[in-house]
Amino acid sequence: MPSIEIKNLSKIYNEGLDNEVKALDDVSFSLDEGEFVIILGPSGAGKSTLLNILGGMDFATKGSYLVGGNDVVKYKSSELGKFRRKDIGFVFQFYNLMPNLTALENVELAASVADNAFSSAEILKEVGLEKRAANFPSQLSGGEQQRTAIARAIVKNPKLLLCDEPTGALDSKTGSSIISLLYKISKQYKKTVIIVTHNAKLAECAGRLIRISDGKIASNEINKNPKRPEEIIY
Ligand SMILES: Nc1ncnc2c1ncn2[C@@H]1O[C@H](COP(=O)(O)OP(=O)(O)OP(=O)(O)O)[C@@H](O)[C@H]1O
Ligand SMILES: [Mg+2]
Repeated sequence: MPSIEIKNLSKIYNEGLDNEVKALDDVSFSLDEGEFVIILGPSGAGKSTLLNILGGMDFATKGSYLVGGNDVVKYKSSELGKFRRKDIGFVFQFYNLMPNLTALENVELAASVADNAFSSAEILKEVGLEKRAANFPSQLSGGEQQRTAIARAIVKNPKLLLCDEPTGALDSKTGSSIISLLYKISKQYKKTVIIVTHNAKLAECAGRLIRISDGKIASNEINKNPKRPEEIIY
């Protein structure tokens, strides 16, 4: 069974009005479990809109989005809340950690809302931060904050790990190390990871590359010989 299946998904803002925007226009694709996917597209292409719908943070106007055979588009808001808590790990460009909680506490907070969470301390070790567990976000570098955010997303043992420009605020070397970490996590925990970016260099390490432009899928290709994230300089 595919990990997720998206069929004819559209998102129209201000439908029927003068300022109508087709942020997503009849998008279809499916992914197998454990795929490492990069969605590439220019600013305004609809990447965040797509990721927010995949993460249950926004509603599609039309189409279906199947996860484990269930259509998320049909979920009531309470079911969507449960889906966000248990099935989705989300990583943002600017980390969005709780400033008054330590690295470990940020991870523990996420673990507390999931049913099958991993051990927070173990996951923090997995992302290389066992020695920084007691530090607050303001005491961590950008790369360390993003590692904490990745730990927070994966600790829930989610079905999908969704990342919106996860290296957008980082220098090139730190950015590569974050992509390496996401790649390692995808293999080790057999998680489907979807990263959206406008950075074509990052796309070289995708197992599957989906290009999106003007709300439409421009191409969708499997890359049999992706580069290792460490090899990428951008
Ligand atoms: N709430 C909204 N109301 C109206 N239009 C919106 C809304 N959110 C997004 N849009 C529009 O939908 C289109 C897609 O936006 P989206 O944020 O998904 O692009 P993106 O690919 O993530 O861009 P970026 O790389 O700049 O983050 C844009 O034209 C945007 O202006
Ligand atoms: Mg965006």
